[in-house]
Amino acid sequence: MEKKADSKCSSAQVQDPKDESQELLQTLEQQLVWNSSWFVKYDGFWFPVRLFKAILSTRKYFKAKETDIILSTMPKSGTTWLKALTFCIVNRDVYIIDENPLLTATPHTVVPFFEYNTYAEQENPDLEHIPSPRIFSTHISFNVLPNSIRESNCRIIYICKNPLDQFISHWLFMLEMKIGKDAKPLAMDEAFDMFCQGNHPFGPFWAHMLGYWNAHLNSPQNVLFLKYEDLKEDITLSIKKIAEFLGFPFSLDEQKQGAIQQISRFCSFEHLSTLEVNKNGNFLGMVKNSSFFRKGEVGD
Ligand code: A3P
Repeated sequence: MEKKADSKCSSAQVQDPKDESQELLQTLEQQLVWNSSWFVKYDGFWFPVRLFKAILSTRKYFKAKETDIILSTMPKSGTTWLKALTFCIVNRDVYIIDENPLLTATPHTVVPFFEYNTYAEQENPDLEHIPSPRIFSTHISFNVLPNSIRESNCRIIYICKNPLDQFISHWLFMLEMKIGKDAKPLAMDEAFDMFCQGNHPFGPFWAHMLGYWNAHLNSPQNVLFLKYEDLKEDITLSIKKIAEFLGFPFSLDEQKQGAIQQISRFCSFEHLSTLEVNKNGNFLGMVKNSSFFRKGEVGD
């Protein structure tokens, strides 16, 4: 396992030879992270090389609208859950629960990532036709977000998780992904050492969390900072908090009719993980949909 990055990912690993991001890549530090694939250090964070072009395209082309909702996370911190909850909260008047798109599509299809789907499929996709509020998600650190997000009045929700749980969840997930076909599974101790040094996908985790925490302190009306553990402890309160932050508060009538409990049950691990769409198929041909639902517990 190469730990320091004097060598760079070969140009053969970068898909498009005309791609501008390739030139920049050659000037940046790169290394194998967790033995699975090449990562590049950009503005202090480790990004997958294979997503670098999409990340730069996101920065270059994404034009935020005031009504946009951006869900930001470190991988394995509760992204899937937050996507489902947010989608159900803001669309509760659009779909009756029996016709909710999440019954037949995974949360990652319904709420796409900037870097894995939206800007990976096309360099500059037309996103104007998407009805408001548009919901996107990302693992990009706050400092690397497109300026238009940071300068607009749109809403960002960040969710983080106890780093020990996040590490275990991510390490097991990476083993299952097997991105590097020739890569040997990385021993847990070695992966943990790298994690503690910040050398892990989208890390360092502390800087990632601090970036969004400081953004929340500077602008609490634009950035909501959540913890996975708090959602597990009191999902009703968390749903109310998200709804109020997004400007979709639950009326007293809705509360009396159990609208919050309905969303909480619908988005629960127990419900989502047993849907056919989440038990079968895979995400972008890389990972089984079921891998997004492992245990869903705190303190693993
Ligand atoms: P574990 O591996 O600890 O079980 P992400 O969505 O960011 O990839 O995070 C995945 C983690 O969230 C996994 O944690 C997964 O089990 C858990 N998770 C997925 N859906 C959930 C849900 N509806 N409720 C609670 N936890 C959920």
